[in-house]
Amino acid sequence: MRTSQPTTIYLSEYQVPAFLVDHVDLRFELFEDGARVHSVLDIRRNTEAGRDQAALELDGDSLTLERLQLDGRTLGEDEYDNQGERLVIARVPDQFQLTVVTWIEPQNNTRLEGLYKSSGMFCTQCEAEGFRCITYYPDRPDVMARFRTRVEADKHHYPVLLSNGNDVERGDLADGRHFVTWEDPFPKPCYLFALVAGDLTEKRDHYTTQSGRGIDLRMYVEPRNADKCDHAMDSLKRAMRWDEEVYGREYDLDIFMIVAVDDFNMGAMENKGLNIFNSSCVLASPDTATDVAFERIESIVAHEYFHNWSGNRVTCRDWFQLSLKEGFTVFRDSEFSSDMGSATVKRIEDATLLRTAQFAEDAGPMAHPVRPASYMEISNFYTLTIYEKGSEVVRMIRTLLGPELFRKGSDLYFERHDGQAVTTDDFVQAMEDASGRDLGQFRLWYEQAGTPELTVRDDYDAGRQVYSLTIEQRIPDTPGQRNKKPQHIPFGIGLLDSNGKDLSLRLSAGDHSHLTERVLELTGELQTFEFHGLAERPVPSLLRGFSAPVRVFYPWTRDQLMFLMSHDSDGFNRWDAGQRLAVDVISSLVGAPAEAEVEPRLLTAYRHLVSDTELDQALVAKMLQLPSEAYLIELTAEADVQAIHAARNRVLQEVADTLRDELVACYHRNHQSGDYTYNSSAIARRALANTALAWLLHINDEEGRELALRQFKDASHMTDQAGALRALVNSDFEADRDRVLADFFRQWREDPQVVEQWFSVQTASPRCGDLERVRALLEHEAFDWKNPNKVRAVIGAFAGQNLARFHAPDGSGYRFLAQQICRLDDSNPQIAARLVSPLTRWRKFAPQYRDGMKAALETVRDKAGLSRDVYEVVHKSLAEPA
Ligand code: BES
Ligand code: ZN
Repeated sequence: MRTSQPTTIYLSEYQVPAFLVDHVDLRFELFEDGARVHSVLDIRRNTEAGRDQAALELDGDSLTLERLQLDGRTLGEDEYDNQGERLVIARVPDQFQLTVVTWIEPQNNTRLEGLYKSSGMFCTQCEAEGFRCITYYPDRPDVMARFRTRVEADKHHYPVLLSNGNDVERGDLADGRHFVTWEDPFPKPCYLFALVAGDLTEKRDHYTTQSGRGIDLRMYVEPRNADKCDHAMDSLKRAMRWDEEVYGREYDLDIFMIVAVDDFNMGAMENKGLNIFNSSCVLASPDTATDVAFERIESIVAHEYFHNWSGNRVTCRDWFQLSLKEGFTVFRDSEFSSDMGSATVKRIEDATLLRTAQFAEDAGPMAHPVRPASYMEISNFYTLTIYEKGSEVVRMIRTLLGPELFRKGSDLYFERHDGQAVTTDDFVQAMEDASGRDLGQFRLWYEQAGTPELTVRDDYDAGRQVYSLTIEQRIPDTPGQRNKKPQHIPFGIGLLDSNGKDLSLRLSAGDHSHLTERVLELTGELQTFEFHGLAERPVPSLLRGFSAPVRVFYPWTRDQLMFLMSHDSDGFNRWDAGQRLAVDVISSLVGAPAEAEVEPRLLTAYRHLVSDTELDQALVAKMLQLPSEAYLIELTAEADVQAIHAARNRVLQEVADTLRDELVACYHRNHQSGDYTYNSSAIARRALANTALAWLLHINDEEGRELALRQFKDASHMTDQAGALRALVNSDFEADRDRVLADFFRQWREDPQVVEQWFSVQTASPRCGDLERVRALLEHEAFDWKNPNKVRAVIGAFAGQNLARFHAPDGSGYRFLAQQICRLDDSNPQIAARLVSPLTRWRKFAPQYRDGMKAALETVRDKAGLSRDVYEVVHKSLAEPA
């Protein structure tokens, strides 16, 4: 266990490594009671560091040191200092070979960092700092070495032995054991190291690259999952093709392997040539996985594959640069998903996540820039800011440069830095050098935290036929950062005439352009743009395509929003207008008497949507989703969760009551019997049918109930079965709900991924997921404290999605969460730290919630032996704001 007090690490203290490792020779002896790791390192002093007397410092965590030799000579205990997390050898030559033998206990590793066991197999997770739990090593990404790995284990129990690269040798050993040796020709940081040993089924496929090289594709899964590999394999091939076509990037090894493991802290990991996945992010068949899961798998498989270039070939110099690989790779996977399905819908999903959760993070106590300046525990910095805002920052660069220059920039970046560990600044520099554009001010997006707020005012001068927009930007203070400088913001815009047609955007009297869409570049605190030759006052369509991760304030009228909702040529803004209208209506009902009228124009708008068969049905399905409670809370200064929940429900109820017949018709129009097909139009139809069902059940409609029960019984795939289950669980038909829940569990009890859905459909439901049920589920035979997916499905879904129950006025939800965090902190600090997040924004809530949330944080703070992970989040949350 980690013993030292949490300390803060600063970017400003970065030093180039004093030693480099050229080659690593590893030998793993795997046993049931532990593993012995033999490591032979070829080390040399880094002349660039200019520290020719520096001691050799190696990281280590939870290791038993069995042997330490320098150039074959065993070191005496006075020749090195082994201080818990660091092994220091004061006097070493300029070049030498170091042999380290450690003993570790994977079978007792519940943190799931380093080498551990999951359902009987050995596997690893080394990012960010897990390799130090395997052996003593300079565990930092700017030390890149070539690895050769020999894995030895019992042949019967562990027939499959994997590591990075190509298998170069295999053979049998005494006592029924065997070995396989792997060699990875590409130098890599140790966080990309991976090892797997188990009794796994192999699924093979083949891919031919653009240049004609043949690649072996292999998936390794537990035998019972053999029929759940096809979708991931197909997704992988699509991703490989896409990266060739869009970025000109080919795969570089002869083998690409994917392994599925049940116990995994994250979604998946891009280890060189050997990606390891959380089972829930890779295994799917139509009868066990929903459309949402299929889409998620496609994007995660692509994401990890894309890292082979954006992360592995070019990696991060230090962990402050994490967004260099994660932001860029999220941008790449999100463009991939847009190209595979509906681009508008993908944009809506990304913007929703950003505005709901990243904006909240950026406004809370954990706010940090895309390139943070300090951290205590790096695991806490795999955040929405690093990932999603980081991806938006890359997107803005592309918007500013245009697609051709952006591609030129990415080519230059990959060419210039291939095989290197670099910084976000190197990325921006390559973009600047390839395009000739000055991104000096743009770099502030990496340095300043906080979501920029744009206040837009407009004016129409009928005499001059000029419409003007004045935009003021302001970036709020965040912990440790005040008085920020204005940023360089690409601001997409269109103007509509009274018939809803796009107008030409002429920026001066002499401009005869026919462009109807432009990207304005905001750089100052206050800027005015004029649009000439306009015979009437237009309706502005602002921040088209969500061109920047900012908040926009403009005094839209409800009529304007209705108008944009049905006319805007920008699909994203059409959706956004609907959201803004719904937000406006719901907000005006917060705290209002129960009989207050629901804006009839909203009902009219939804009536059109439910019956609209012309518009992209995937977009219609999105437009029919009311803004989430989390988003409404995010928009409210002192959020009263119960009042927001009630107001939103009131609107849901009114819409469903009013449109009841249309919803039934919409259901029948879209519900399909027959086999599952995975394409955007089928997915959109299923989403529409299931949305209609959910609304009907929300009002406890009798016909809806029958439709749901029939769909549940007849479903030929999980999207429909789970859709019916969810609708029933969220109704007041308690007897039906309990029956389908029991049937569902009986049918799927052997399938962990489906059982996870079964847990979360209950815990996330405000009608069914009360604390009593959540507590009961923690005692359920299928629950497992050691399995992060189960913890997320029960505790995470309750605290993160079931807001009305979690924020129970008596504080019971908060106390419950604090208790579970303390319990988990002893076994898995990373998972515990992530569960703190629903409490961190306590200051944002109305007083009746705030106090209970704060008290819960204090309980966690006072727990003895708190991990560094939880310590950082709790202490930052309780600290006085900047
Ligand atoms: N490199 C990460 C996995 C990771 C995250 C390792 C945190 C260690 C700590 C991987 O590429 C990743 O980003 N995975 C995401 C899914 C992805 C689609 C955004 C994840 O695991 O959630
Ligand atoms: Zn990633």
